[in-house]
Amino acid sequence: MLRTHTCGELNKKNIGKEATLAGWVHKRRDHGELIFIDVRDAYGITQLVFDPKENRSMHEKAHELKSEYVIQVKGVVRERPAGTVNKKLPTGEIEVLAGALDILNPSLTPPFELDDALTVSDEARLKYRYIDLRRPNMQKNIRLRHKVNSFMRSFLEKNNFVEVETPILTRSTPEGARDYLVPSRLNPGKFYALPQSPQLFKQILMVSGLDRYFQIVRCFRDEDLRKDRQPEFTQLDLEMSFVTEDDIFELSEGLISGVFKAVSGIDIPTPFTRLKYAEAMERFGTDKPDGRFGMELTDLSGILKNTKFNIFKKTLEKGGTIRAINAKGYSKLSRSALDALIAKSKDYGAGGLAYLKCEKGKLSSNIDKFFEAGELDSIKEKAKAEEGDLILIVADKKAIALGVLGSLRLEIAKESNLIDENKVNLFWITDFPLFKRNDEENRWDSEHHPFTACKEEDAKLLDGKDLGRVRARSYDLVINGQEIASGSIRIHRRDLQEKIFKIIGLDKEEANRRFGFLMDAFQYGAPPHAGIAFGLDRFTTIFTKSVSIRDVIAFPKTQKAVCPMTGAPSDVDDKQLKELHIKKSK
Ligand code: AMO
Repeated sequence: MLRTHTCGELNKKNIGKEATLAGWVHKRRDHGELIFIDVRDAYGITQLVFDPKENRSMHEKAHELKSEYVIQVKGVVRERPAGTVNKKLPTGEIEVLAGALDILNPSLTPPFELDDALTVSDEARLKYRYIDLRRPNMQKNIRLRHKVNSFMRSFLEKNNFVEVETPILTRSTPEGARDYLVPSRLNPGKFYALPQSPQLFKQILMVSGLDRYFQIVRCFRDEDLRKDRQPEFTQLDLEMSFVTEDDIFELSEGLISGVFKAVSGIDIPTPFTRLKYAEAMERFGTDKPDGRFGMELTDLSGILKNTKFNIFKKTLEKGGTIRAINAKGYSKLSRSALDALIAKSKDYGAGGLAYLKCEKGKLSSNIDKFFEAGELDSIKEKAKAEEGDLILIVADKKAIALGVLGSLRLEIAKESNLIDENKVNLFWITDFPLFKRNDEENRWDSEHHPFTACKEEDAKLLDGKDLGRVRARSYDLVINGQEIASGSIRIHRRDLQEKIFKIIGLDKEEANRRFGFLMDAFQYGAPPHAGIAFGLDRFTTIFTKSVSIRDVIAFPKTQKAVCPMTGAPSDVDDKQLKELHIKKSK
């Protein structure tokens, strides 16, 4: 080893002893004759002193040291003089009087300070990621992520799971995104697809009799990126045979509450609250509800069934609905802030946003004249409006009214600091619809993926027209309003799988071409099975409280799926393209 101790471990017990440290120059302070250098490594920071009275040549050499130089220093540990102790550092009571200094590697001036209160662009952070990763926060995040992974691995091993690696060069696995394709040199004109998830392989492992599979696995999806989406991300993926929803919930709850306890000492009570999709939509306007605050949606359609207000009346006549939220304490909102809310609701898809202020004990606004006193009283009661509140109302098709108010609910909560960041709120969302209507292409799509089973009692609906009513045996785990995991009970019989493919518009030939291997496997004794996949990047950000999942990924990509450090994606030689039988379009 190039050191006898790390930069985080020397303390009073080492006083008088010799130590060799190696690390980076973190800070340099020249105090008259004395030069102080904070040397940093992965474990902490230790103060070095260069004193010309003790060693003049060493002191001369210390003048060369600049930020991020890599050094090795040998010296004697001594007590810091009274009044200079730094209580915040574990090494704060001592310093090392440098006796020998070796510059192992100089450094150019870093492009940004290693300060956590960082103001540099994301682009610069990613270009110089090796420097960005030296920041204490990033070090903490990466280590925390390791702790999460490591807990999960050992938990699953204790529960008889086997970690199996599945192929990266494979065929398309439909999870709703575009595929990343890799041309095959040996098979001209043919392509591998990088897996959007190991879904098909994990099901086949159940047919293979593995019984309990897991994998911490990279998934690849070519989709529009957001703060919580990366083109390659990591799942904790698992699958179990001969189980029902309750088994998956129980296992996942043990796993998730175990991670919370191990990583942050938080006790999460189990079982987690279960919420049916329809109820989540009614109460929160989304299937990813954040239950850390109230402001739930209310239905005013009943109260206003005889309304004279034309817009509302027409909406109800057309089968629409009138929904509201109570923005607590918002009645004093300025006209321009109110206009901004209205504009936002239009961005979210609403035709408009009506409002009623609760002031001097009654509801009033520019449209109050259209309502009877009794109607206003009932609205006030239903929305639980108190003095100073603002009721926001959307009359529209149900999906739009719920969606818009769900988004406004979240927006207002964030704006008015209603969300207690120290709370953890978990929901299982169940009873999703199996299909969603794709009006653009006039067909039905799978809501989850096409390998999801439906509720037994809804199987008869598969032959009818009302496919929107078929409920899936799928479930999502939502934490603090974020979808953290998703899974389902699977189809394990060929006939049913063929039927689902047909409904989503895959004819028999295409279904066979793409998924014949899975359906063939189903014919050789496929056990009933189910599984779930946790988005590890998203899950880890719950502990780090990062805004973006990039902060828990060592080498993430930008919004445009670029890696500024390596320059990927990049041009390739014509020779390589030729070998791959690819011609660039002009
Ligand atoms: P799903 O597609 O819902 O399910 O993915 C599971 C979880 O992975 C996370 N996730 C993402 N995280 C970061 N960037 C992305 N682009 C991204 N996409 C998804 C989410 C999500 O809940 N095979 C099924 C699982 C199963 O049925 O067992 C699947 O992949 O947290």
